[in-house]
Amino acid sequence: MQRFIAKRLLSGRNSNSLPSPACCFSQLAQKEDNDVLIPKMPPFDYSPPPYTGPSANEIMAKRKEFLSPSLFHFYKNPVVFFTNSGTEANELAMMIARLYTGSNDIISLRNAYHGNAAGTMGATAQSIWKFNVIQSGVHHALNPDPYRGVFGSDGEKYAKDVQDIIDFGTTGHVAGFISEAIQGVGGIVELAPGYLPAAYTSIKKAGGLCIADEVQAGFARTGSHFWGFEAQGVVPDIVTMAKGIGNGIPLGAVVTTPEIAEILTRRSYFNTFGGNPVCTAAGLAVLNDEKENLQENAHWDVRGRGLMLGVELVTDREQKTPAKAETLHVMEQRKAALVTLGESCGCRFPCGCHGLHNVKDVKPQISLLSSVVHKSIKIKSVSFHVYYE
Ligand SMILES: Cc1ncc(COP(=O)(O)O)c(C=O)c1O
Repeated sequence: MQRFIAKRLLSGRNSNSLPSPACCFSQLAQKEDNDVLIPKMPPFDYSPPPYTGPSANEIMAKRKEFLSPSLFHFYKNPVVFFTNSGTEANELAMMIARLYTGSNDIISLRNAYHGNAAGTMGATAQSIWKFNVIQSGVHHALNPDPYRGVFGSDGEKYAKDVQDIIDFGTTGHVAGFISEAIQGVGGIVELAPGYLPAAYTSIKKAGGLCIADEVQAGFARTGSHFWGFEAQGVVPDIVTMAKGIGNGIPLGAVVTTPEIAEILTRRSYFNTFGGNPVCTAAGLAVLNDEKENLQENAHWDVRGRGLMLGVELVTDREQKTPAKAETLHVMEQRKAALVTLGESCGCRFPCGCHGLHNVKDVKPQISLLSSVVHKSIKIKSVSFHVYYE
């Protein structure tokens, strides 16, 4: 680095503008023939050990195996940026979309959760997770929630709201669209069928990029697919991931095409711990574990998919009045039975619930043995039963 600074100083210099070596360089400086002070490194005999990690071809083969055939087909050589969390991954994805398109507006969904930093808190749309700080540049579209939403399971009707936002709330150009395929923190809400293809079409027409937040649904958690978006048959421009990727270790990633990734070369981008050897070793171990067909463990269905399940409790089926107290009671019953199942995606909060606190969700690790699932579901049904008798 010091050599870089010295070179820069020298190349842009006239000799009068050179700062005193004593104040800028820790190394000794010596005079050369032309009177220029050249800093000199002290003796140094360290040479780094040879690289013994996976080869470029092995890494590419891994990506081919896990990134879904559609992504691999369209991305050709997918580029991966590692981060330390889902928030960081989404922040980076949103910034890339803004830089790549030259637009600022991003559309996300009501009831979404995407993180807790400046940009991602803006994209998040549940008041319980939003603090009163400036969050600009995000519009929240109607949530295609088949249970509570105004259009039931008609995904295309909800997607019309994305087009309306573009037409009436922006310049007609947008940076992108970000959504989960199944809203996790929002209470395991699977987007109405047909929603993403229609929404993606509107976004692409407006010049935007489509970002799939797979922080919760990714890594086979839905059982039927390795990635949540696959169930809607779309190919996002950027995919973000975390949580399951490291199975408890702080690791996240942003995957995109080389063409889109190239936008970051306009400036220097780095992340000190993103992609560090310890966390990426955990990521590799997760991929190796997936080979044992763990995805099979996630084949269940209540509401949501696979091991990403939610049961929404209401006191009045017509009004859909959230049963907050009753939900707490069921949770207490489970605690009394000494079963603690990964309750909410590895986060410590007990409910995913669009702020209503009435959704019981189940999002255990993919490595969970099916016998444990059976036991927990049995205890859950007992607690429901006891309560409603
Ligand atoms: C869908 C989704 N995206 C992003 C995040 C943020 O991830 P992290 O808590 O690792 O920053 C979460 C966290 O719960 C999430 O559920």
